[in-house]
Amino acid sequence: MAHADHDQHGRHGDDAPHAHTGHAGHSHDGAVDWAAMVALLEAEAELNSPAYARALAWLAEDVTEPGLIVDAGSGPGVIACLFAETFPGARVVAADGSAPLLEHARARAARQGVADRFDTIVGELPYSLKELEYPADLLWASRSLHHLGDQRAGLAAFGARLAPGGTLAVLEGGLRPRYLPRDIGFGRPGLQARLDAVQEDRFARMRAELPGAAAVTEDWPALLGAAGLKHTGTRSFLLDVPAPLPERARAFVVSALTRTREVFAEDLDAEDRATFDRLLDPTDPGSVHLRPDVFALAAHTVHRAVRPA
Ligand SMILES: C[S@@+](CC[C@H](N)C(=O)[O-])C[C@H]1O[C@@H](n2cnc3c(N)ncnc32)[C@H](O)[C@@H]1O
Repeated sequence: MAHADHDQHGRHGDDAPHAHTGHAGHSHDGAVDWAAMVALLEAEAELNSPAYARALAWLAEDVTEPGLIVDAGSGPGVIACLFAETFPGARVVAADGSAPLLEHARARAARQGVADRFDTIVGELPYSLKELEYPADLLWASRSLHHLGDQRAGLAAFGARLAPGGTLAVLEGGLRPRYLPRDIGFGRPGLQARLDAVQEDRFARMRAELPGAAAVTEDWPALLGAAGLKHTGTRSFLLDVPAPLPERARAFVVSALTRTREVFAEDLDAEDRATFDRLLDPTDPGSVHLRPDVFALAAHTVHRAVRPA
């Protein structure tokens, strides 16, 4: 039945909006092997945690003392564990299609001392949420909804798993991350802006190829309304880590750009590929390994809605 584990080498195209993928993680058929991306997914979520923590604090203004919080498409559980920390009275369920990622989520929960109120559900979303024993007071889905072919149906299914008065919070969109100045001193200025365009095209192809793909205008407040929920607010949360980056953040940028080059090389012209070669050469003072001006700037947009009581 629908709870079967989803195919980890299967149908999910590259998660182009944030290109947050590791050196591994791309299978021969062009789909994402989520489990192979665990290190990069974790590092990315950890880097962005200050922004996520502010998003959760914003949710906490409205959602007081939730009993059950569900993170739909949790990946390795960095945000799910932030939920456990933010809401010490809540039980948290991390749901994902990748069993290995959920193993990491459980290990993180154990390290943070919250394992006794942390569970996981492995399986294809949104169907796997039928396994919840009772409805959620808060359901969070960050950058997972866009991997479902029919986002409208996905939202309706998420909404149906809420208790009356429960909150659905969807993180989609925002602004793509920036790590480098427009002009890095070599190559054609504007490399990251050109990558954005390439990633948008890839993302559109990824969505078009999903099973049951349905085109939809990504007006999230309207879509939440169409799912029978009351939109109660939208806010964007900035990640702003100026240069010089702490070592872990720099290591993440190196991994993210390594992945980007690997996945998007064929979409770039020879000059941009040469620029990438310099950027990723650890012996080059102009590389992201060594240059002093690498930073991390991104914005994450969260849409919040309530299931009428
Ligand atoms: C881009 S990652 C986001 C991870 C995490 N929510 C975050 O924001 O850092 C997308 C996650 O959704 C999961 N996923 C994608 N499609 C899925 C599906 N159809 N069913 C279950 N999980 C899915 C992937 O395994 C992956 O962990």
